[in-house]
Amino acid sequence: MYGAVGTMSDDGFEIPGVPTGFFASQYISPLRYPGSKRLLVPILEALVRANVPPPRLFVEPLCGGATASLRLAGTDTAHEIFLADLDPLVAAFWRIAAFDTEWLVDAMQEEPVTVDRWGHWRKAEPAAARDQALKCLFLNRTTFSGILHGWAGPIGGRKQKSPYKIDCRFPKATLATRIRAVGALASAGRVADVVCGDYEAVLVDARRRWPRLADDEVVVYLDPPYVKKGRKLYGWAFDDEEHTRLANVLRFCRYRWMLSYDDHSVIRAHYAHSKSRGGLIKQLIAERPYTAAGGPKRETGSELILTNFPKIPVSELYRQVDSPGERAAPAMSQAADSLGDECVREVRA
Ligand SMILES: C[S@@+](CC[C@H](N)C(=O)[O-])C[C@H]1O[C@@H](n2cnc3c(N)ncnc32)[C@H](O)[C@@H]1O
Repeated sequence: MYGAVGTMSDDGFEIPGVPTGFFASQYISPLRYPGSKRLLVPILEALVRANVPPPRLFVEPLCGGATASLRLAGTDTAHEIFLADLDPLVAAFWRIAAFDTEWLVDAMQEEPVTVDRWGHWRKAEPAAARDQALKCLFLNRTTFSGILHGWAGPIGGRKQKSPYKIDCRFPKATLATRIRAVGALASAGRVADVVCGDYEAVLVDARRRWPRLADDEVVVYLDPPYVKKGRKLYGWAFDDEEHTRLANVLRFCRYRWMLSYDDHSVIRAHYAHSKSRGGLIKQLIAERPYTAAGGPKRETGSELILTNFPKIPVSELYRQVDSPGERAAPAMSQAADSLGDECVREVRA
């Protein structure tokens, strides 16, 4: 198979300094993200394995905690990963974790995890990627629900009267291991790049940068902000127009793709009666509930997975929704090639 990070064991890769099975474990991201993507990852992995030989490139253009990319690269289900996010803090985090790893580990270990420092990072507007990366990690691990922007306060409250203190989600040794695992993947040539940009431009960019890859050698995974709570959770959320734009982009996407959402009638409607350039769009409902945070009340619900993969293996983890899309497919047009050719901003250290 591909050049590995270390030796392959039954449960994943072994790399120097990183515990056996690290990449195959279900919770490996140094960042906390609402929703249990780690419950979804085995499903994504099974879909990829059933349909394509290890994709040369796995693109996660709304990467957030990048749970799927880390897992798929770590278990050799995908060769290289290409990460992007519109949030400059998130993009900077992944770029520095991958390519400037020891700086981030040292800075994180030296950083006092206090309410004063939380106030400092909340106000700070760093321009340098290193500082943006540290700000991202600090606020993600010390703020309620990992929220980077806006209204959320520090874990334990400003007065720290709660039994959960501000540093309760900041285990420095564990974070160092996780960040170093990202660096090890990058050193092994498994992180193609990390950029800050809009997902549509990132997909155009992937085509321009890897023109020789066949359409089915690239798999795109998109995990957009939730319909119901996305506005509270992310600096860059999706409104109705954004959900519609994404559906249009995917309709004309040549690559194989998978999309996960909170199960919502608005989204089902967007993708019903649909054919994508890469194949018919299938809708799957994951039986396992996720837990979405973002407010005082936690909610559970099913996850909707949409994909243009041709083969959907039978699984106890999901059921396929009968799609009338097989009967009514919209005409394809040259609009596919008119996706904006905007530049993708690189995050520079
Ligand atoms: C639901 S989170 C992704 C969670 C991730 N899959 C995980 O496992 O942790 C959605 C991400 O999309 C990013 N985002 C929002 N709008 C975007 C856009 N137009 N282009 C790229 N990224 C965007 C947000 O900043 C956020 O990090």
